[in-house]
Amino acid sequence: MGVSSKKTISVIGLGYVGLTTAVGFGLKGYKIIGVDLDKEVIAKINRGLSPIYEEGMEEALQDVEVTATLDYGEVLGSDISFLCVHTPANSDGSVNLDYLRGAVLQLVDTLQAKEGPHLMVIRSTVVPGTTEGVLLPLIKDRPNLQICVNPEFLREGKALNDFMNPSRIIIGENNAQAGDWLYEMYQSFNCPILRTDLKTAEMIKYASNAFLATRISFINELGNICKKLGIDIYRVAEGMGHDERIGKSYLAAGIGFGGSCLSKDLEALMAQSRSLGYEPGILREVHRLNQEQPRRLIELLKKHLSPKGKTVGILGLAFKPGTDDVRESRAIPVVEALLQEEARIKAYDPKAIPHFKRLFPRIEYATLEEVLKSDAIIILTEWPEFERVDYKGKVVIDGRRLSKAKEASVYEGICW
Ligand code: UDX
Repeated sequence: MGVSSKKTISVIGLGYVGLTTAVGFGLKGYKIIGVDLDKEVIAKINRGLSPIYEEGMEEALQDVEVTATLDYGEVLGSDISFLCVHTPANSDGSVNLDYLRGAVLQLVDTLQAKEGPHLMVIRSTVVPGTTEGVLLPLIKDRPNLQICVNPEFLREGKALNDFMNPSRIIIGENNAQAGDWLYEMYQSFNCPILRTDLKTAEMIKYASNAFLATRISFINELGNICKKLGIDIYRVAEGMGHDERIGKSYLAAGIGFGGSCLSKDLEALMAQSRSLGYEPGILREVHRLNQEQPRRLIELLKKHLSPKGKTVGILGLAFKPGTDDVRESRAIPVVEALLQEEARIKAYDPKAIPHFKRLFPRIEYATLEEVLKSDAIIILTEWPEFERVDYKGKVVIDGRRLSKAKEASVYEGICW
């Protein structure tokens, strides 16, 4: 086979962000070397299978040249490495940099043998000042190594689409040559490309997610007030959304935000803010309200039924439809509260049961039909199939605005 004319890049960390970045640039014509620690992930990708449930990913994997490996040495076949390793939260909410620092050190060690220039692109989410203060020092005596920051704004379930159609590209740089290098890779994307210093790029990611979280808690707070006034918050949101300064999206009131990013990034930003001696009052309330919504839902249930000894059915465990991910799902605090109330739980989700079962092995997982036989039903994820259910004669507490559920004999929306 002839030598590929395609340029080769490497991607370190093949989770949601890394795999999407690898496949996305693969679709743009690059040859990809993907490095990960998880042998199962590597084996799946090399068989053209997607280790994550993401719309269109498996099909796209057939059209790209992505080779997954355990071996950092393969990175020497590329001149640019995107670091997409996960940066989980420490117990105090701050960002755990162990994996990212380890990946950079592995790269620096691997690149000892390399004379020519190599660009490391930090795509993992790190609080402002991290690249400059923690990662740059790791390459300080290596003039041929450069670093840039390039945050991602990918939504789970739409990650590949969001990669191929970004609303903006952010490039954080500490010198123009490195920035130019990365800029060249994004030339073909049809969107604004902003070039900033390193920590501004890092802050744009956190500020964006903190704003999205604030928007959700805002509409949930207004929903809680509107419920007491007998006003439909969804009509209010519709009226608000015509103002282009407000916009129509991200105003769906309900049981709150889940997912691996919004809460984690909000808490990391608050932890950093407090370490700088500033108490982030608004962000603190955004987080508190999001923690409170599930409790509010249980109080609504108790208005209609004493949970102790009763069977409570849960429809939806994933943190949102279109994914099997249960990280920070609002179903977690709801199940915890129901267990405290000594209810018997029957749960159904079209995709997320295997992941949820690892957290709650002892609750009962059932079919949709079985769950509907429960004494009361709680809706926590707005899967389309839940709009095709017969709720007549049921007691339904709705956390996600399923219009069909209004036919129930007892229907309560969490904030409508
Ligand atoms: C989010 C950001 O959207 C994305 O830009 C960032 O890169 C990662 O975090 P994601 O967590 O995948 O993406 O999901 P998203 O679609 O934003 O939803 C997050 C949570 O907010 C879900 O639990 C969803 O149910 C909830 N949500 C979203 C609402 O409750 N109301 C809304 O109007 C929108």
